[in-house]
Amino acid sequence: MVRLRPVDDWVTVREYRPEDIEAVLDIAVAAFQSVYTSRREALGDELFALFHSEWQADKRRAVREACEGAQSAMMCVAEADGRVAGFASYYARTERRIGEIGNNAVHPDFQGQGIGTRMYCFVCDRLKALGMECVTVETGGEESMAPARRAYAKAGFEAEFAMVRYYRKL
Ligand SMILES: CC(C)(COP(=O)(O)OP(=O)(O)OC[C@H]1O[C@@H](n2cnc3c(N)ncnc32)[C@H](O)[C@@H]1OP(=O)(O)O)[C@@H](O)C(=O)NCCC(=O)NCCS
Repeated sequence: MVRLRPVDDWVTVREYRPEDIEAVLDIAVAAFQSVYTSRREALGDELFALFHSEWQADKRRAVREACEGAQSAMMCVAEADGRVAGFASYYARTERRIGEIGNNAVHPDFQGQGIGTRMYCFVCDRLKALGMECVTVETGGEESMAPARRAYAKAGFEAEFAMVRYYRKL
């Protein structure tokens, strides 16, 4: 559904609460499905099985750990019309005043309407309030990550450099 109202009228970004956990984990798996489908096409079945056969469980574990505050992770969620529609984990590296955005996603039912950008702006505001001087985030260069790259750019991330990850079966 495409909405004509500004995103702030129907989306609230707030800190994560423990009761959000199941919604957040379900969003993680639903949103990253397209990323791993295209990764499978790029790598082929054999390499994909070696590297990513457990990706759903791995993603759920990583996101659960962030929800539980592992490595001092913080987490916010976006609520759209009362439903948890997205989440973003983030970190404040206080020694060097560097903030970092970690795992994040918007449920496919809600993508493309500005929620991701809104969450990234919330996280940047929080990190600034915590004394961070800059913020970084890592994403892929593949087509399935184009919405993430676009949303980071819209949220004000300017400088970037590309990295290439090689895969080889031994
Ligand atoms: C990345 C993600 C969180 C963004 O959330 P979102 O709510 O869809 O983001 P927004 O609506 O704020 O912005 C997405 C932008 O990408 C654009 N976009 C969508 N598909 C695109 C494509 N194939 N190529 C280029 N841009 C694309 C949208 O049009 C929008 O830009 P616009 O507002 O200028 O039109 C969401 O797409 C997602 O969960 N993706 C899968 C998981 C993921 O990649 N997470 C990030 C890990 S680093």
